[in-house]
This record gives sequence, C-alpha cells and structure tokens, in this order.
Amino acid sequence: GLSTSSSLNAKIQEVIVIGGGLMGAGIAQVAAQTGHKVTLVDISQQVLDKSNARIAESIKRVAKKQFKDDADGAGKFIDSSLANMNIATTANEALLTADLVLEAVVENMALKQKLFAEYDQIAPAKTIFASNTSSLPISEIASSSSRPDRFGGLHFFNPVPVMKLLEVVRIPETSDETFDAMVAWGKAMKKMTVDCKDTPGFIVNRLLVPYLMEAVRLVERGDASAKDVDLAMKLGAGHPMGPFELADYVGLDTNKFIMDGWSARFPDEPLFRQSEMLNKMVAENKLGKKTGEGFYKY
Ligand code: 3HC
Repeated sequence: GLSTSSSLNAKIQEVIVIGGGLMGAGIAQVAAQTGHKVTLVDISQQVLDKSNARIAESIKRVAKKQFKDDADGAGKFIDSSLANMNIATTANEALLTADLVLEAVVENMALKQKLFAEYDQIAPAKTIFASNTSSLPISEIASSSSRPDRFGGLHFFNPVPVMKLLEVVRIPETSDETFDAMVAWGKAMKKMTVDCKDTPGFIVNRLLVPYLMEAVRLVERGDASAKDVDLAMKLGAGHPMGPFELADYVGLDTNKFIMDGWSARFPDEPLFRQSEMLNKMVAENKLGKKTGEGFYKY
C-alpha cells in the first residue's frame, strides 16, 4: 500500500472534476471562481462545449451579484475564474499533479468503479478521490481503488453556484487527514459543510426524496392538486420551491432513479415505495424542466 503520512495531505489546490453535466460544470465553476486550478473532464467534446457555455453564462450572473456597480472588478473576476479552468477529454495529464479527483458522472456504479480503478494507477499517492453521487454507496465506489483511506463523498446541490451546502461524507476507511482536507476544501469553495456517514441519501436527500414522494402520493390519492401543494409549501413552510416545482427542476428521472435504487435495497421501508404516477410520467418522457414537461409545462 501507499504511505498515508499526513505530509501527503497538503491543501487541495488542483482539482479534476469528471463529468461535464449540470453538477460537474457547476462544481468546476465554483472551484475556478475560488482560485483553484480546475480540469473539467468529459469523454464528449460536445458536452464540454456545452458546459463551457453554461459556465460562462453562470459566472456572469455571479459577477453581476458580487460586483454590482463595479464593471472593472466583475470583468477581472470573470477573466481570472476562466483562466483557472481547463477542459479535457481525458484526465490522464491532470492526474499527475491533482490534489483531488471528484466524479460527477451518471449514477452508474460500474462506470464509477472503472474510472477510479484506472485513475488509481496514474494518480500520485497524495491525490484524494471523491464522488458527488446522490444515492450510491461511497464504500462500493471506493472499493475499486487501493486508496479507501483517501476516499470520500463530496455532495453538492443544484444549482451549485447558488446553493451554499456541501455534504462531506466519510466511509469507515476515510482517514482523518483526508476528511479534514475535504472539509477545508469545502470552506475554500465558500460552502458551509456538514459531516455525514455513508448512509442512503446522506442528510438532505434522505429527507428530501421521501418528502417529494409523499407529495406525489398525496396528489395521486386526489387529496389536493400539485399547484396547491406547491403553493402550500412555499407560503406555509417558507420553501423557495414547492415539491413539484423542485421535482421538475431536479428531473423526474433522477427522482425515480434514486427511489428505484433505495426500494430495491430496502424493500421493507414504506418511505421508499415506488409511485405509479411517477413511473408513468418518466415512461412518457415527462422528466420535468429539461424535457419541457413534468408536473408543469415549460
Ligand atoms: N448560476 C449563477 N447564479 C444563479 C444560478 C446559476 N445557475 N441560478 C440562479 N442564480 C442566482 C440568480 O442570479 C439570482 O441572483 P440575485 O438574487 O442576485 O438576483 C439568485 O440566484 C436567485 O435566482 P432567480 O431569481 O433566478 O430564482 P429564484 O429566486 O427562484 O432562485 C433557486 C432559484 C436558487 C433555484 C431557488 O428557487 C431555490 O433555492 N430552489 C431550491 C433548490 C434546491 O432545493 N436544490 C436542491 C435540489 S436537491 C439536489 O440538488 C441534490 C441532488 O443530489 C438531487
């Protein structure tokens, strides 16, 4: 095995983000904005071009907010952020010096394991590996590498540039040095961090996903309309979005994927039961905002 002396766990400065989707692009953007050297990796150049456009757009919004009447400051912030960003179709070169590799690829266990098994061969001993998975066990992903002591979960929330929380997840093997380095990185990313064990949904999704499903069941029973449930939770509980707006925003396929995984693993847990209504909507490609229709039309 490789040495795990604390001198290996210097500050995280160079970051590789794997996966150019919504989450990966958002994480790479925030890392670049906070002065980290970032490489965003995706096998598809087309996806990377899309991420670049999305990042450029989002950085402008952030700059506008942070530098209201200071066009010069905003320009400098945008330029220096973009200068920290690289894109690549393979991680190989960046892996040689990376402090952290964070994957945000599709929720496919075999793919995640394959990636980390490969990177394990190339990355130096100091490199920490982490997953942004919402619902898969971190331990199972980590088992593909020879460095479970330098492995953990770093779970961000959508939209990453706006949401202030980062869940920092440890598995039993995660060393204290690794955990401390991940927490320190979260602070350097200007997020608030919470510590959590490797349990289904960690904190937020363990509460949020069953809540969204309860909202679907409520409407399925005909107790209220989706529109009224949303209005009720916004005005009665102070939520920024109602459960159906949020489900459409996150994507109904994502919600269903998480529930399917959990109901298979925990068949006796009533909170994780499937919903016919949700299954039907996903089968009809009503996935929410991204396909133009979910519980609402866009
Ligand atoms: N990039 C940069 N800035 C953005 C942005 C983006 N992608 N999206 C929104 N913003 C900024 C806007 O510029 C705006 O700034 P301002 O206040 O200075 O004008 C601010 O955020 C608010 O945006 P909007 O005015 O457009 O819209 P809202 O006020 O309705 O806020 C929202 C949008 C932040 C998405 C808010 O509705 C919200 O917090 N919703 C709940 C989101 C949530 O719960 N996310 C978690 C989902 S679960 C998850 O991610 C886990 C995963 O594993 C499934």
